[in-house]
Amino acid sequence: MIHTVLAHLTCPMCHQGLTAGPGQVRCPAGHGYDLARSGYLTLTAGRAKALHGDSADMVQARDAFLGAGHYTALADRLADRLTGKIINGLTGTLADGLTGQPANRLAGAPSASHGRQAASGAPQDGGVSVAVDTDTDTDTDTDTDTDTDNGTSGRAPVVVDVGAGTGYYLAHLLRSAPDAVGIAVDASRYALRRAARAHPRIGAIGADVRDPLPIRTATATLVLDVFAPRNVAEMHRVLRPDGRLAIVTPTVRHLAEIVGPLGLVTVDERKSERLRAKLAGFFVRQDKLTFDLELSLSPDDLLNLVMMGPTAHHRRTPEVRAAIEASWPHGACPTASFTIEIHAPVPGQTVHHVGPRPFGDDRQEKR
Ligand SMILES: C[S@@+](CC[C@H](N)C(=O)[O-])C[C@H]1O[C@@H](n2cnc3c(N)ncnc32)[C@H](O)[C@@H]1O
Repeated sequence: MIHTVLAHLTCPMCHQGLTAGPGQVRCPAGHGYDLARSGYLTLTAGRAKALHGDSADMVQARDAFLGAGHYTALADRLADRLTGKIINGLTGTLADGLTGQPANRLAGAPSASHGRQAASGAPQDGGVSVAVDTDTDTDTDTDTDTDTDNGTSGRAPVVVDVGAGTGYYLAHLLRSAPDAVGIAVDASRYALRRAARAHPRIGAIGADVRDPLPIRTATATLVLDVFAPRNVAEMHRVLRPDGRLAIVTPTVRHLAEIVGPLGLVTVDERKSERLRAKLAGFFVRQDKLTFDLELSLSPDDLLNLVMMGPTAHHRRTPEVRAAIEASWPHGACPTASFTIEIHAPVPGQTVHHVGPRPFGDDRQEKR
């Protein structure tokens, strides 16, 4: 529900706060934004039509793949460790609990995974395995207890999911953080429709993450970015000084078994290096975990996996389906491989709004 997060949102034109009216929200300067019937709010400076995100087919494929539970162990790990470490302020590392206790049970949510996990990488028969590779930078002092009274302090912890897609990971996290609220930001109306319904404490916002986010400065306890585009300066600005940024990226091993035959977009070997360079000056890494899942996928699952990602921009469904039929008529067991990183904001960065863009007005389309 948008109302649960309205106090944390700002007008994309003048950056003032927003208040709710019937079917619309407005700022004191009179800029108005219509609430879509499906419950999300597009907050762009007159560019609602120019937003580009995942297509209807990509979102449908993502919804089906995630709904089948194939990445539940990743969602559980994020929910368990991010809720404990960041939202509830507990100590520990991302890897805690990975020996002896299945991650896909930690948050108590049902899982479609049907195996076990190992702490050091040996795949378990026909199921989920987790390889742990921790790497923690502890030498940098990022202890920042600065008071951040921006008019919203003392309220529920706020999780901002940038490029939230269907809101799958955010909803999972909120289920294990009963006091927190979530802001799902995405450019795809098809994703936003789902994100708005994914959890009652999610407010779904249509915005381009390359622009200034329509979110108050220093309001977020946690910013989450799972396989999504990043605007490092804006992530830093919306985070409280004592907040954290969690980023999930694919490793070079991600789906290696099927990349060639299915013509998947490959992961840049220098991705981790490039990410570090991008974050430099804004964030310092606190924790890192490499997380591998051995998947067990039917041909339909494989098709959804391919068509929910960037490969969908280059390949058509019939040709991917034919390639799957040729190589894996009975399904396949590729390994999904992710890196989860936690970063603390570097204190003292001041990022100013660049102000509303000169083009466009504040008219919004009713969707
Ligand atoms: C690979 S998907 C990841 C979605 C979600 N985090 C997940 O893992 O299920 C990337 C998401 O980023 C969104 N996106 C792409 N470019 C964007 C932009 N410039 N601004 C906002 N969202 C964007 C897409 O619509 C899509 O939902």
